[in-house]
Amino acid sequence: MQQFAHPITPCRVAALAGSPSARSRSAALLRQALRALPAADAAPAEIDIRSLPAAALLQADAKEPAVARALAQVQSAELVLVATPIYKAAYSGLLKVFLDLLPPDALRGKRVLPLATGGSLAHLLAVDYALRPVLAALGAREILDTVFATDAQFERDEHDEAGGWRPDAAVRERLQRALAGTAATGHAEQPPITAPRPASVDRSGAVTAAC
Ligand SMILES: Cc1cc2nc3c(=O)[nH]c(=O)nc-3n(C[C@H](O)[C@H](O)[C@H](O)COP(=O)(O)O)c2cc1C
Repeated sequence: MQQFAHPITPCRVAALAGSPSARSRSAALLRQALRALPAADAAPAEIDIRSLPAAALLQADAKEPAVARALAQVQSAELVLVATPIYKAAYSGLLKVFLDLLPPDALRGKRVLPLATGGSLAHLLAVDYALRPVLAALGAREILDTVFATDAQFERDEHDEAGGWRPDAAVRERLQRALAGTAATGHAEQPPITAPRPASVDRSGAVTAAC
């Protein structure tokens, strides 16, 4: 059974940051998306893939504790935000090595929001032809409207001493619209992301919630 230092608590939102960059625009887009979530009380699991042990990722070691915990957080979430920079007309390799560790159908029954940033609009469609098929292969059937922003749509965040980024008003508006479907007015077949769920550990000891 996987042991964690902290008690296991439910996680309804998992936020995957797929850039290898420390001052990442796509991570800034992701943080803004979290702020825009209708359920202000949702405690998101923020997974910065670049902070996970590199050797474990490259050797596909899904049992390494930090990697296992991140994978469990994704699997226990109801809404998964996936942020990536566009690299060479596709999503980042860092995101790919993480997604490859998820079991088949890991995203089934979840809502997934793709977020991407690129140097220009030239590869706007990379999310559609590269990332969305991977999310669908993992079982995602409810993929929300992609929010894509170019580098020019970010400004320096004056409140961030580390010199981080903030998406402009038009991008923030698109995030609000993309996430509107997760509000209480959202889908009839899926409950809104508002009420906490109990954590669960099944009979085999597998962690299904680990924020
Ligand atoms: C290795 C590399 C490859 C890139 N390839 C593309 C590309 O094919 N198309 C594009 O629009 N931007 C490309 N870019 C620019 C990044 O997508 C863009 O700066 C993005 O906002 C970076 O996101 P990040 O700050 O989260 O890493 C590339 C940047 C790097 C470092």
